[in-house]
Amino acid sequence: MSNQNTSTIIVTGGAGYIGSHTIIELLQQTDYNIVSIDNFSNSNAATFERIEKITGKQVKNLNVDICNLEALELAIAKVKNPIGIIHFAAFKSVPQSVADPLLYYHNNLGSLVNILKICKQLKISNFIFSSSCSVYGNVEKLPVTEETPFSPAESPYGQSKQMGEDIVLNYTKSVSDFKAVLLRYFNPVGAHPTGFNGEFPRGRPDNLVPYITQTAAGILQKLTVFGDNYDTRDGSCIRDYIHVSDIADAHVKALNYLIENKQKKASTVFNLGTGNGVSVLEAIHSFEKVAEKKLNYEIGPRRAGDVISIYANNDLVKKELNWSPKYNLDEMMLSAWKWQLHLGEK
Ligand code: NAD
Ligand code: WQD
Repeated sequence: MSNQNTSTIIVTGGAGYIGSHTIIELLQQTDYNIVSIDNFSNSNAATFERIEKITGKQVKNLNVDICNLEALELAIAKVKNPIGIIHFAAFKSVPQSVADPLLYYHNNLGSLVNILKICKQLKISNFIFSSSCSVYGNVEKLPVTEETPFSPAESPYGQSKQMGEDIVLNYTKSVSDFKAVLLRYFNPVGAHPTGFNGEFPRGRPDNLVPYITQTAAGILQKLTVFGDNYDTRDGSCIRDYIHVSDIADAHVKALNYLIENKQKKASTVFNLGTGNGVSVLEAIHSFEKVAEKKLNYEIGPRRAGDVISIYANNDLVKKELNWSPKYNLDEMMLSAWKWQLHLGEK
């Protein structure tokens, strides 16, 4: 068993949305030293001020492009006793990946291969990989379990996650003493319950919840609901929205599961969703209720590439990691709104 006070957990992409919330949970729930590696390609250093405001603790960040192996090796050589890596760093925009697939293959796969090379060099044996429900593509049977076969990915981004999973699983098979957990997030939303840390989309958001909060704040004029004539209970698409702090908490549990040798196999894949399918219109109405505000929205045409309905079967993660989601839809929306208001105050 490792000594938490003298062991370090490396969090790549620690300045980003999910990485920063995970660092907050790690600082609050464990005594590990935490070191982030982030080149701020989709974030900035202010994240670490927000983490300090919430936890009272400072986190060191190594500003390195993980695709640059030489720079990565030099930076990590200074990290004391690294025993685990949580690998968030990647690009995540579906439309951007369609426009520039090489950027996505280079960044998402190049960074992963380099991080695994570091694991091999330094004999780091506990690894957590950020995967996505986008690996499933269009599914026929709901809810999706970890056994649901992959359909062809809808975008180069989704394909980079399918390939990323294969890379981790094949590497795991090739070495002894290396254990991996692969977490397939459904739709992470919301912000830290304090409202002091949240998602920081650059430019016009692609995702529903930041679009809702920016519309309510008057930054965007109107939200378009992409289709209300699907074969669902109210005609709009169904997703499994999950609070980012619940996702963060699952990473702490997954890390303990690996470090405490509770995982019987070399690798495990878990779906990380609430198990509840929520329609776009239900999400909007939840927001309107908790923000006590009418949202300016209209029904528009369907968005190309949208799956109609997807939500998780989360039995495995509940059983194996003893995890369950704490936040409901209203709490997700309220935290996202608090964060938007906090941004407006600055
Ligand atoms: P994010 O963009 O907020 O965070 C990613 C961080 O990684 C950023 O701070 C960015 O600067 C950094 N980064 C990217 N490439 C890097 C590189 N080469 N070197 C160093 N730093 C680099 O994204 P997020 O929402 O926090 O997502 C984290 C992970 O979770 C990603 O792997 C993403 O694909 C996955 N994921 C996200 C979602 C979602 O909806 N947010 C859903 C499923 C899976
Ligand atoms: C949610 C729902 C839209 C915006 C994406 C990635 C996926 C994963 C999560 C990383 C859909 C509707 C949206 C708007 C709308 N990310 N919508 N008006 O597409 O489910 O998943 O993020 O791994 O890989 O594809 O999320 O937030 O874009 O959309 O009506 O302005 O909201 O049609 O039904 P999506 P989203």
